[in-house]
Amino acid sequence: MTEVLIKGGRIVTAVDDYVADILVKDETIEAIARHIDQPTAEQYDASDLIVMPGGVDVHTHMQSPVGDTETCDTFETGTRSAAFGGTTTIIDFAQQEYGETPKHALDRRLALAEPQACVDYGFHIILTEVTNEALSELPDLINYDGVSSFKMFMAYPGVLMVDDAAIFKTMRKVGSHGGMVNLHAENGGVIQVLIEEALAQGNTSPKYHALTRPQIMEAEATHRAIRLAELAEIPVYIVHLSAKEALDTVVEARDRGISAFAETCPHYLFLTNEEYDRPGFDAAKYVMTPPLRDHHCQHALWRGLKFDDLQIVSTDHCPYCFNESPYGIYKSKQLGADDFSKIPNGAPGVEFRIPLLYDGGVGGGRISLNRFVQLTSTAPAKMFGLFPHKGTIAVGSDADLVLFNPNRSHVLSASTHHSNVDYSLFEGRQVTGKVEKVFLRGQLVVDGDRWLGKPGTGRYQKRAASGRM
Ligand code: URP
Ligand code: ZN
Ligand code: ZN
Repeated sequence: MTEVLIKGGRIVTAVDDYVADILVKDETIEAIARHIDQPTAEQYDASDLIVMPGGVDVHTHMQSPVGDTETCDTFETGTRSAAFGGTTTIIDFAQQEYGETPKHALDRRLALAEPQACVDYGFHIILTEVTNEALSELPDLINYDGVSSFKMFMAYPGVLMVDDAAIFKTMRKVGSHGGMVNLHAENGGVIQVLIEEALAQGNTSPKYHALTRPQIMEAEATHRAIRLAELAEIPVYIVHLSAKEALDTVVEARDRGISAFAETCPHYLFLTNEEYDRPGFDAAKYVMTPPLRDHHCQHALWRGLKFDDLQIVSTDHCPYCFNESPYGIYKSKQLGADDFSKIPNGAPGVEFRIPLLYDGGVGGGRISLNRFVQLTSTAPAKMFGLFPHKGTIAVGSDADLVLFNPNRSHVLSASTHHSNVDYSLFEGRQVTGKVEKVFLRGQLVVDGDRWLGKPGTGRYQKRAASGRM
């Protein structure tokens, strides 16, 4: 039996804040008490450190094919990068290809992830073809396979977009089984018109990615998604919310008692659309969807996090190299050198979510320490059916523990991160607050700069109902 004793740490959960010892036996927390003596256990001194539950990032795209491109982190490199950033569980995506059933898509992704994953993982299924056969599989996927959330795209016509009828039918089907639909909420049809107009006028540079995806088209789709969910009587979750007007829509619905939830991402909290003024092609690094917004939006997002209008911070880690050389052009931003609409959409960030949100959120006086843990671990675990194994520090919970030094400064950089991607959105940014040690179900996997984990130790998580907060 493995025994681990973490001594004298400041234990912080979404609601608690106290100093105590934690005894881990095998994979779970056995005891928490002011003083525990267990000479047979491996001992770790956590005095002056915060001990928090492992982060849960519910939006990543590892080794993810989209059209002719693929993200450049494998499950192995991406989950190792997650672990170094204090994240011990991810929820990634199994995308239904045209002609494929959702169950087959899940099995395909499970086979890919299983030998590689270095942290625990689950999947949302991306539905692209809502046939009767696909719909008939959904209850079993929820009840037996542990997939209780389904992402659907209101954007990217011809590639991923589905129509309102497909969304509504899916909502109807999964609602009574404890499922939830996650929406990429942008009006894809209108955005396509704007893209074609821009290109026809010779406007091919990366900044037109942002100019052709206006806030109100995010707000419109967010409103439509919520109205569909209201009629279907199911909770709804808006992914990567960026625009103030979209947030206003969520707030209005919640005020009416609708179960409308939303996440935002670190890039929307720490960067603005000024990045698109960078010279040359450099702005392509910031081409993600939705695009970066202005300072008003950023201010509204922070306010939303503070007052629970937004429930979760996830990364939407979707890495494409900036340069062609490391992994070939199909994994690189250079695909869109002559046409912004061909730049692979997405940006990296799985490793920096926790240090950034601690530094800018807690350090910056915008959110409390408990709220920080809630946003990065507890709420995502609860929202997506992983709680109480994940998302908290309690007797019986998985011993996914992060020992975090709140006073240690470090610089975020692609030269030291653990992702395959060759750039960082936050290059050179100094932050205070560093992940020192990470335990995955009681096993020390990160010790300072040392990697002690192994591919294949991450375990698939069958999830309970989603959205029943
Ligand atoms: O630009 C983004 N967000 N790429 C990833 C795919 C998605 O829409 O989440
Ligand atoms: Zn999306
Ligand atoms: Zn995404």
